[in-house]
Formats: sequence, C-alpha cells, structure tokens
Amino acid sequence: MQPTRNLPLLHPVLLLFLLLVLTTPSFGDDSAAMSALLAALKPTPSGWSPTTAYCNWSGVSCSPSRYVTSITLSSKSLSGTLPSSISNLSSLATLSLQGNQLSGTIPAFPPSVQALYLDSNNFTSVTSLAGLTNLQTLSITQNINLAPWSLPSSLSASSSLAKIYAGSSNLVGTIPDFLGSLQSLAELRLSYNNLTGALPGSFSGSSIQFLWLNNQVGAGLSGGISVLSSMQQLSQVWLQKNGFSGEIPDLSNCVNLFDLQLRDNSFTGLVPSSLLSMKNLLNVSLDNNKLQGPVPSSSGSMKLTYDGNRFCRNSSGPCDSQVMIMLQVAGGLGYPLTLADSWTGNDACGGWSFVGCQGTNVTSITLSKQGFNGTISPAFVNLTSLRTLLLNNNNLTGSIPQGLTSLPNLQVFDVSNNNLSGTVPVFPASVKFTSSGNPFLGKNITGDSGSGSGGNSSSPSGSSGGSKVSAGVIVGVVVGVLIVVLIMLFVSYKFLYVKRKHTKFSRVGNPELGLPATKTGAGMVNALNNGYAGVPSELQSQSSGDHSEFPVFDGGNVSIPIEVLRQVTNNFSDDNILGRGGFGVVYRGELHDGTKIAVKRMHAPDGKYSVETRLAGTFGYLAPEYAATGRVTTKVDVFAFGVVLMELITGRKALDDAFPDEKAHLVTWFRRVLINKENIPKAIDQTLNPDEETLESIIKVSELAGHCTAREPFQRPDMGHAVNMLVPLVEQWKPLRQEEDENEGIDLHMSLPQMVQGWHASEGTSSTFDNMSFSYTQVSIPPKPSGFPDSFSSSDCR
Ligand SMILES: *[C@@H]1O[C@H](CO)[C@@H](O)[C@H](O)[C@H]1NC(C)=O
Ligand SMILES: *[C@@H]1O[C@H](CO)[C@@H](O)[C@H](O)[C@H]1NC(C)=O
Ligand SMILES: *[C@@H]1O[C@H](CO)[C@@H](O)[C@H](O)[C@H]1NC(C)=O
Ligand SMILES: *[C@@H]1O[C@H](CO)[C@@H](O)[C@H](O)[C@H]1NC(C)=O
Ligand SMILES: *[C@@H]1O[C@H](CO)[C@@H](O)[C@H](O)[C@H]1NC(C)=O
Ligand SMILES: *[C@@H]1O[C@H](CO)[C@@H](O)[C@H](O)[C@H]1NC(C)=O
Ligand SMILES: *[C@@H]1O[C@H](CO)[C@@H](O)[C@H](O)[C@H]1NC(C)=O
Ligand SMILES: *[C@@H]1O[C@H](CO)[C@@H](O)[C@H](O)[C@H]1NC(C)=O
Ligand SMILES: *[C@@H]1O[C@H](CO)[C@@H](O)[C@H](O)[C@H]1NC(C)=O
Ligand SMILES: *[C@@H]1O[C@H](CO)[C@@H](O)[C@H](O)[C@H]1NC(C)=O
Ligand SMILES: *[C@@H]1O[C@H](CO)[C@@H](O)[C@H](O)[C@H]1NC(C)=O
Ligand SMILES: *[C@@H]1O[C@H](CO)[C@@H](O)[C@H](O)[C@H]1NC(C)=O
Repeated sequence: MQPTRNLPLLHPVLLLFLLLVLTTPSFGDDSAAMSALLAALKPTPSGWSPTTAYCNWSGVSCSPSRYVTSITLSSKSLSGTLPSSISNLSSLATLSLQGNQLSGTIPAFPPSVQALYLDSNNFTSVTSLAGLTNLQTLSITQNINLAPWSLPSSLSASSSLAKIYAGSSNLVGTIPDFLGSLQSLAELRLSYNNLTGALPGSFSGSSIQFLWLNNQVGAGLSGGISVLSSMQQLSQVWLQKNGFSGEIPDLSNCVNLFDLQLRDNSFTGLVPSSLLSMKNLLNVSLDNNKLQGPVPSSSGSMKLTYDGNRFCRNSSGPCDSQVMIMLQVAGGLGYPLTLADSWTGNDACGGWSFVGCQGTNVTSITLSKQGFNGTISPAFVNLTSLRTLLLNNNNLTGSIPQGLTSLPNLQVFDVSNNNLSGTVPVFPASVKFTSSGNPFLGKNITGDSGSGSGGNSSSPSGSSGGSKVSAGVIVGVVVGVLIVVLIMLFVSYKFLYVKRKHTKFSRVGNPELGLPATKTGAGMVNALNNGYAGVPSELQSQSSGDHSEFPVFDGGNVSIPIEVLRQVTNNFSDDNILGRGGFGVVYRGELHDGTKIAVKRMHAPDGKYSVETRLAGTFGYLAPEYAATGRVTTKVDVFAFGVVLMELITGRKALDDAFPDEKAHLVTWFRRVLINKENIPKAIDQTLNPDEETLESIIKVSELAGHCTAREPFQRPDMGHAVNMLVPLVEQWKPLRQEEDENEGIDLHMSLPQMVQGWHASEGTSSTFDNMSFSYTQVSIPPKPSGFPDSFSSSDCR
C-alpha cells in the first residue's frame, strides 16, 4: 500500500498554526488561586497577607503583568495541603516547597511549570503529572509517606525534563521504559525506593549522566547491566544494594564516568581490564559481589574497593591457568551464579562442584540439566586431560567448537537436548558423541557465530505471512513519520534560517538552575498585523526585549499546548470559526491575557472543506484559480505549500515590492529560474550556503516546489506525493552549523531524524495519530521585540 493512499487516514491529525494577533494585553489576576494557597498553608507564611497584593508576598515573583511566575516557600515549617487551584496559576514556572510538612495530595500543576521542588514533605499521593510540557526539574525526594506509586507515563510528554529526583519516595514496580526516551534527561535519581526488575533497554543511547538507583529496599533491581555500555554520557552510576547480576560490561565508551558504585549486588565474572584503565574513573566499589578471577588492581588515582568477592586469590596476582580455563568455560555460560558460588579459590580440583579430577588435572565436567544458557566455550580445548564432558539438557546455543575434536583424552561428549546449531564436528571413533535433540544442529543458520544470537532464517513460521501482518503497522508508522517530517522541514528550516538572518531568541529556562531550554517543536508563528485577509503568512523571529507590554511571554518562548488551544477556542467550537481552508478550519481564541489568537486546525484533505471561505489561505500565496473560483481546494493548498518551499529556498517573500517587477512575483520568477537547473544555486538564499550534497537536496525541493505551483491544478502533485519526495531528503538533512549563540528550540547537535525521534518520544505512543498531533501542537511564541507590533510588518519576516 502506498502511503499516498493512506493520507485520508490522517483525518484526525491536527496541524495547528498559530496566528498571533496583537491586542493590548490585560493584567493578570492570580488572586483567587493565591488566596486559596494562602488559606491552605498553616501557619500563614511570613510576609503573606490577604490584604496585600500577592505579587508583594515574600517568596512570590510575578511577571510585569502580575502573573505569578515563582513561589518559594522552602523550609518554612508549613503544614497543610496544596489547593487544586494551583493549576490556575497559568504562568507559574517554579514552585519550591521543599522542607516543610505539607501533606495530602500533590495536585495537578499548570503546563507552564518548569521546576517543581516538593522534597522532604509529608505528601501522601500524586494526582497527575500530565501535560507538564515545560517541566525540566521534578524533585520529590524524601516523601516517605507517599502511597506506593510509579512515575506516570504522562511524564513522557515532558520532553524537556532534565532532572528527576525521586529518592525515598516510595516508588514501586519497574523503571518505566519512557525514561530512556526522554532525550533531555540528564539526571535520574531514584535511590531508596522499592523498585524491581531490569534496567530498561530504552536506556541504550540515552543521555543520562547521573544514574542513582542504589539501595532499593525490597528485592531490588535485577538482571544484567550491559545497557550501561551504550550510555556514553554517564558520569555517576550508583547501583549499590540491588540484585543485579551477570558480568560488569566494558564501559570504556563512557569516557566521563567518574564514580561507579556496584557493591552489594551479585555480579559475576572477571572484572574487565578496560574498567581498571579508565582515565576519569576515580571511584569504584565492587565489594560484596561474586566477582571471579584475579584480584583487580587499580591504576593511578582510582579508589577501588572489592572486598567480599570470589577472586581466586586474596591478593593480586594471576590465577592458576586451569582455573582461568574453567572461568572461560563459565564465561561461555554467562558466569552463572551457581558456578560463581562453587568455583572459588585457585584450585579447580579443590572440590569444585560438577568437576572431577585426577591429581591436579580436570578430567570430567558434568553440567547436565542445569538450565544453562550461553555457548560452549572453545577454551575446553585447553583442558587436555578431559575425558568426560556432559552438557546435555540445557539451553545452549551456538555451535560446537571444532577444536574439541582434538582433545586427546576425550571419551564421552554429550550435548543432547540443547539448542545448538552449525556444523556437526567429526569426532574420532574413540569418542562417544551424543548430539540428538538439537533441532538446528547441522543446519546453516545465517549470522550464527557461536554467540547463540544467530538469526532465525529457517524459522518455519516463515517471512511471507509476517510481512503481511506488519504492512499495516509499517504504513502507519511511515505516514506518521512523514507528517512529522514535513512539519519539521517547515519549522527547522524556517527557524534556523530565520535565526541566522535575525536577532537571537532569548534563552528559555530557569536561570537559577542554569538550565538551557531544550524545546521540541519550536513552533510556527504567524503574525498578522491586520486580521487575516490574504496576507501571506510568515514566520517571524524577534529579539527579546522590553517585556512590559507583553508579559505573558516574558522570559522567552512559551509553549501553547493543545489543551490550552482547546480551551481558548472552546474546544474548537463552531462559534469560534473564523474561516475554512482546504486543509482545515481557522478558529478564534483568546489567551488569558487577552491576546487574540487564531488557530488553524488542519485536516488531511478529504474534500470536506471545498467550501466558501472568508479566509484567504494561511500560508504562501494563493493559487491562480482561487481568484476565479474563490474556492480553497486541496490543490490550492498544494500550491501554497509550493510557495512556502520557494520562500524557504530563496529566503524571499511570495510578493516582494523591493525587487524589480520581473522578480517581485516569487512564483513566476522562480519557475523561470527552474527552467535551467544551473540557475538554481544563484537563486537560493545566500545564507544557506549549502555544500554539494545539500545543494542537491535543495535542487530536488526546488523542482518539487515548481511542480506544486503548476498553473493547472491537475498538474500539481497531491500532498502525499510531495511528502514522499521530501522524506528521503530529510534522511540526508543535517542541521546548519551552530552559531556562537546557542539556538533555542532546536538542538543543532541532533540530526533531523533524531529530532523527529525526539518528537516521537515526547508523544508517548506514537502509533496513534491523535497522540501524534501532540508533538507539533506545542507552539513556541518568541518573545516580543521592543516596539512590537509597530515595527512588525510582513517585510520583517523572512
Ligand atoms: C480555577 O479555574 C477554574 C476554571 O478555569 C475555575 O472553575 C476555578 O474556580 C478556579 N479556581 C480558583 C480557586 O480560582
Ligand atoms: C507592592 O510593592 C510595591 C513596591 O514595593 C509598592 O509600590 C506597592 O504599593 C505594593 N503594593 C501593595 C498592594 O502593597
Ligand atoms: C505525615 O502524615 C501522616 C499521615 O499521613 C501523619 O500521621 C504524620 O503525623 C505526618 N507527619 C508529619 C511530620 O507531619
Ligand atoms: C516492596 O514492594 C513489594 C511489592 O512490590 C512488597 O511486597 C514489599 O513489602 C515492599 N518492600 C518494602 C520494604 O516496602
Ligand atoms: C567515592 O564514593 C564515596 C562513597 O560513595 C564517596 O563518599 C566519595 O565522595 C566518592 N569520591 C569521589 C571522588 O567520587
Ligand atoms: C584468604 O582469605 C580467607 C578468608 O578471608 C582466609 O580464610 C584465607 O586463609 C586467606 N588465604 C590466604 C592465602 O591468605
Ligand atoms: C596432568 O596433565 C599433564 C599435561 O597437561 C600431564 O603431564 C600429567 O601427567 C597429568 N597428570 C595426571 C595425574 O594425569
Ligand atoms: C530452555 O528455555 C526455555 C525457555 O527459556 C524453557 O522453557 C526450557 O525449559 C529450557 N530448557 C531446558 C532444557 O532448560
Ligand atoms: C536463560 O535465558 C533466559 C532468557 O534469555 C533468562 O530468563 C534466564 O534467566 C536464563 N537462564 C540462565 C540460567 O541464565
Ligand atoms: C589455549 O591456551 C593457549 C595457551 O595458553 C592459548 O594461547 C589459547 O588461546 C587457548 N585456547 C583457547 C581456545 O582458549
Ligand atoms: C533455539 O534457537 C533458535 C535459533 O537459533 C531460536 O529461534 C529458538 O527460539 C531457540 N529455542 C529455544 C527454546 O531457545
Ligand atoms: C553457511 O552459509 C553461508 C552462506 O549462506 C556460507 O557462506 C557458509 O560457508 C555456510 N557455513 C557452513 C558451515 O556451511
């Protein structure tokens, strides 16, 4: 199935464009919510009084328009509960209530909240952490009376979340998967809870730096920790006092790691030598595990502790060679705990279980029916006195090492009833070799390298059925990605580009915390100074400046989540419809400060909106047939899309009087340019300064733009085709070079696909289109420039 044909599937997808209309803002009134807070706290905080303005209360900060932006009441011996009206404080960014005896439920907070400090209180439950799209810090440590809870998956929408401090807060269950997908998460501190289960695989590649999971009070976290080796940002890892097992992985990719606490677990195997030579690693505890092999000796300044393990000797020095061979054998099996407990000391013939000896030589190994996973180690080859080797009735995978055929004394070798594969070695007649009950033995399993992770090409369930089953899923995913990609193209290009041309954005984030803001979905803002009629909408950037007249957005970008847009448009009520376009309906709305906005809710083309409209399109320039028919069709929108592409490529407006007549009309001029490919590089925006590869992409997009703006509607491609064309280009897309000032909204270190992935991550389950809309309905409004709106005209926006 073609994604094109599936485009109508996108029907519920909302594409929201924010058209900002400037009005004189009203002043804020948070008095009801603040009075409720005052009344709920016992005793009344000093410096708070119902008779003074709440912006003058000590610890309360307001924006110039008197919206409360932060409340600081730490260590004030306060008790009482938090009123639910706290969620009405629509500009609240920081709430610091740590070190009190506040109790009851932790209420819902407004989406504006960036930092929540609720530590060391007596809260008993958490209502909701949903919709906190700006949240950067969640600190809730030391709330021991909280009813057992888990970090709610709604936090996955908090895509800027950088710090989670929730030690001693009675968390139970497993570590949620979504934490690994939070791109900005740098600190995860969940010590002293009752967490169980394994480290989530989603941690692989995450940017977590501080990982505190130590001292879980119950059975603790368990399983292996190999995922750490792919968490290259790690600085501090505290896993002590858990039930982790398996080998310590090679962590040499984690170059910033300075503190690794692994004591009091059940780690087995050898201490990897790579660990002991990590330059920045200063502090390592390995005590009270079941580590084997030689005693590790640290180099340089590393502080290393390792008491209470299963090392072969009490002091440093190599192990006996036969012991080392036996440890390799155990290693093939994944260093199972049973062997770690028994195979201790420096003499393999000193009473190890499963091992038989003659003198000091190992002659028999009997590991039948132990439920072992893993592979048969080639190191058996070096046990030259071995006569009997029984490995039957386990779950061994991989192949049988060829070298075993040369064991001079081998008499009995049983590998029956495992899951071995590969070729069957040919043993001398003197060896009684049993290999039955290995369905894949003798079959060539592709990718089989004796690791047991071989492919399953011969799987009888076959691939033909499988691909059919997944086709729908794939199409769904592809379509989802396409749409996000399309939006990203708009947003990234335009924003990066705008940024280069204009002043910089102010930083978002809490300066107290020194946090840079990372915001997914820096949005599209269309500012029209005079209503909506016919003005080619533009993206704009503005310098941060005087906040006094436009306080809602002071301090930087503000996200407007879908919930808010729903609210201000009265759930997209018909009463608020301003007009309809080929792709959707435009609604009026009013933000709490009186700012009027228009919201375009875009639908996939389904023919429903070929309707007369008062609105002359929201972007680009209208197709010629609009003038004749006055009808906005999907093909009109394709035309407009083409114009936007042209605007992006050339950095010019659709109509620009600044240019001589023959160039003023962008479409006419650019289509002429397109006639000869060689002209394109000269026509593109000079600030793009593309390399050869990028230029190639730009040329392709230029051609697409040409097709989209074909004079006859039927000659224009449909949207699905346009998207199809753009996707492969996006794969190659790399962000523009970072400028000296940090960019906002878009992390230039990420490739576009990574960003897209980030957006997906912030959606929770990206498989439903409803959720998908969420990621790009967070619209950032750049801060107001001084003199705005007077200085703003369409020629400012490029
Ligand atoms: C909070 O806002 C809701 C609706 O926006 C309103 O019904 C409620 O009364 C407000 N609460 C307070 C305490 O202001
Ligand atoms: C709040 O404080 C400002 C400056 O400190 C003062 O001018 C104003 O009168 C105060 N307002 C009230 C209601 O106390
Ligand atoms: C904490 O709350 C519990 C009940 O939930 C109460 O028994 C206890 O006294 C409270 N502790 C403090 C220090 O307020
Ligand atoms: C930890 O949680 C388990 C259930 O998940 C419970 O049985 C156990 O009592 C808890 N342990 C502590 C110390 O709270
Ligand atoms: C090493 O770990 C110990 C115990 O956790 C801690 O007290 C100490 O400060 C750490 N030292 C360094 C250099 O990290
Ligand atoms: C090694 O340590 C164990 C227990 O700590 C002790 O019993 C044994 O004698 C020590 N061996 C040597 C050679 O020091
Ligand atoms: C042990 O093995 C060595 C060779 O690895 C051999 O020389 C020696 O005789 C063997 N000892 C016994 C008791 O089999
Ligand atoms: C092999 O593993 C499977 C599932 O992991 C288990 O059901 C089976 O009992 C195991 N077989 C043996 C022989 O241990
Ligand atoms: C064998 O592998 C399964 C699944 O991979 C795992 O659950 C089980 O614990 C392993 N068994 C042993 C003995 O390692
Ligand atoms: C056997 O021992 C020799 C000498 O110690 C070593 O070079 C070789 O790698 C070992 N073979 C295996 C398969 O471990
Ligand atoms: C046995 O191995 C095959 C492929 O190597 C795999 O598909 C299958 O799941 C394995 N069976 C068990 C019980 O582990
Ligand atoms: C297994 O098949 C691959 C190609 O599919 C071939 O290259 C390889 O030699 C085969 N191995 C054996 C042991 O037959």
